[in-house]
Amino acid sequence: MTSHKPVKKAVFPVAGLGTRFLPATKAIPKEMMAVVDRPLIQYAVDEAREAGIEQMIFVTGRGKTAIVEHFDMAYELEDTMKERGKDLSVLDSSRATPGDIITVRQQVPMGLGHAIWCARAIVGDEPFAIFLPDELMIPNKGGGTGCMKQMVEAYNEVGGNLISVLEVPQEEVSSYGVIAPGKQVSDTLTEVTGLVEKPPVAEAPSNKIVSGRYILQPEVMRVLETQGKGAGGEIQLTDAMAKMIGTQPFHAATFAGRRFDCGSKLGFVEATLALALEREDMGAEVRAMAERLLG
Ligand code: UTP
Repeated sequence: MTSHKPVKKAVFPVAGLGTRFLPATKAIPKEMMAVVDRPLIQYAVDEAREAGIEQMIFVTGRGKTAIVEHFDMAYELEDTMKERGKDLSVLDSSRATPGDIITVRQQVPMGLGHAIWCARAIVGDEPFAIFLPDELMIPNKGGGTGCMKQMVEAYNEVGGNLISVLEVPQEEVSSYGVIAPGKQVSDTLTEVTGLVEKPPVAEAPSNKIVSGRYILQPEVMRVLETQGKGAGGEIQLTDAMAKMIGTQPFHAATFAGRRFDCGSKLGFVEATLALALEREDMGAEVRAMAERLLG
C-alpha cells in the first residue's frame, strides 16, 4: 500500500488564447471544440474521474464561460427533451456533482506556469494533477486505461512529481518541453534529471517530450511565485518543474496509449478521424466515406 498523499484534485488550465486555431477560437474556447460529439474538456474530465480525481479546478479567462456551463444543468434543454420522450443519458457525463467544479480566473494569459499558480489557494497543501485538455490522450485500440489512471498507479509507487512523456522524432523537439532522462525504473518509468522548454534540436537532452498530463507536489506553487518569464516571454511550468528536480523525486511515465495534439489543426483532424473510425455506431460509414473521398 501507499503512504503517498492521494491525488484528488486536478487543475485544467483553459485560459489560453488558442491562436493556432483562429478564427474558430475567436468566440468559442478551443476546449469546447468537439471531437466527434464530445468537447475536448469533457474527454479530460472523464479521464480525471476514471483516475479517482474528485475536484476539478478550471483556470478560465474571458470568453470561457461555455466551459463551465457545459458541466451545469441545462433546464430548458432537459425539460424539452423529457417532454418529447428523448433519452437524457447522453448528458450524463456532462453533469457535475455539486461542488466538484471550481473556477478561478487568470486575468491575463501570461503562460501555463502562471495559469497553474492562479489555482494555488484551492490546491492548498496537496499533490494535484494537471490536464492540458487540448492534448487528447486516448487508450490504445481495443482497451486499456486512460493516461491519468496509469499515472496515478505509478505515483502510488514512487510518489513525488510525475509527468507523462512520449517520444517524437528528434527534429520536432524544439516545439515542446523535453526531459533529460536518468535511471530507468521500469519499462515505462524513468527518473528525470533535467527539463528544458523548447530547446534547439542540437541541444535537446532527449527526444522525450512532456505531454499534457502532470502530477505535482504543492511546493511547485512556491517556485512559481517568484518565477520569471521564460521561452516565448511566458511564465513556464517547465522552468518551475526543473527547479524541483533534486529536491523531490521526479519521474516520467510513458503513456501506453495515443496522444493527439488537438491544439493544432492537423492533430484535431487526425483525432476526429481516428475516433470516428473506431466508433461502433458510425465507424463503418466513416470508413466508406473516407474511401469515397480518397477516390
Ligand atoms: P498552449 O500552449 O496550447 O496555448 O497552452 P494557447 O494559448 O491555448 O494556444 P495557442 O498556442 O495560442 O494556439 C497550453 C495550455 O495552457 C493553457 C491553455 O489554455 C492550454 O490548455 N494556458 C496557456 C492558460 O491557461 N493560460 C496561459 O496563459 C497560457
